[in-house]
Amino acid sequence: MSIVRSQILSIAANAGEEVVTNDDLAKVIDTSDEWIVKRTGIRERRYIKEGSYWSDLMMPAVEKAMEEAKTKPEDLDLIVTGTLTGDLDMPSAAGLIQARLGAMGAGAFNLQAACSGFLYGVTVADRFIRCDPRMKVLVVGGDAVSLITDKMDRSTAVLFGDGGGAAVMGGNTSGDGRGILSSRIYSSGEHGAMLYLSDDNGADIKYGYREPGEKIPHRTVQMRGNEVFKIAVHSMERASLEVMADAGLGKENIDVVIPHQANIRIIKTLASRLGVDMERVYINVDRFGNTSSGTIPLALTEARDKGMVKRGDTVLMPVFGGGLTWGVTLMRW
Ligand SMILES: CC(C)(COP(=O)(O)OP(=O)(O)OC[C@H]1O[C@@H](n2cnc3c(N)ncnc32)[C@H](O)[C@@H]1OP(=O)(O)O)[C@@H](O)C(=O)NCCC(=O)NCCS
Repeated sequence: MSIVRSQILSIAANAGEEVVTNDDLAKVIDTSDEWIVKRTGIRERRYIKEGSYWSDLMMPAVEKAMEEAKTKPEDLDLIVTGTLTGDLDMPSAAGLIQARLGAMGAGAFNLQAACSGFLYGVTVADRFIRCDPRMKVLVVGGDAVSLITDKMDRSTAVLFGDGGGAAVMGGNTSGDGRGILSSRIYSSGEHGAMLYLSDDNGADIKYGYREPGEKIPHRTVQMRGNEVFKIAVHSMERASLEVMADAGLGKENIDVVIPHQANIRIIKTLASRLGVDMERVYINVDRFGNTSSGTIPLALTEARDKGMVKRGDTVLMPVFGGGLTWGVTLMRW
């Protein structure tokens, strides 16, 4: 009997319409294009238009992915979204995508894993599909991070943008070996204070993230950048090696790396630790900044469209995010 693999059947992406350059930000906060480019590699990011919501950002990608996979809404069995910035808490982000798509009959839930949301979703879909290869699962990852950024905090405001993407996943029983080879997810809630979303209900005081009396704007990303940098590199390196070992592959077998796009220095350090040269690593952080759970689908879509990811290529996708969460998916495209 041939191996059953789950496979990304289609992928599409979208980003906010409004382009915000480093110089635009430097008009409002004490920063400069030079500082941002040198420390992060980011030149511009995109924000959704005022008055629009996360689902408005995601629907163009969802519709394109469904069309590319030739999948009708009623054929979906499951919709998994990975976002922090859904329009409402209830219905979930996935429930609202289901309603907008008319995918009646599918199960739908949001999972919250910050920047790792898309790969967490791919991993969950992989397990469902390997149990039942007839299933069709829509995985949506993306964030409108501009909605949860303190625009006056220069340590975070310069880093993030709005974007994401969607993939239709299904089973591959053909035996051609394409699909997800290994996908692992990880978390370390005990390090939550390093990167978290503030909340006025006092729970962040309970966990020691914030001192009583310390004022932080409600529902904004709070980060200890230096600590996150180090743990992100180390965690993604270790997880990548574990996933490659699962599949019995070494660095010489990796054709393309689609890494989380948070900071060019994190990406270069990770590539060097893994022994993969930068020509094999896709970069778009310069144009989009960190779109949280949107980075992987945005980068994978572009890399595929530009011909950098080709049929049969072995693709490694490491991600790291708040909470803390991280994960790596290894697949044969
Ligand atoms: C955020 C980050 C770019 C900061 O770079 P860094 O080299 O660590 O810089 P530091 O935080 O040590 O700050 C250095 C100085 O720059 C200043 N600074 C911070 N943000 C600035 C900005 N936007 N513009 C100008 N100066 C800034 C700091 O105030 C500090 O000044 P000081 O030395 O006078 O105190 C970097 O830590 C990083 O990328 N971390 C990972 C963040 C990330 O990717 N998170 C998401 C993961 S999912």
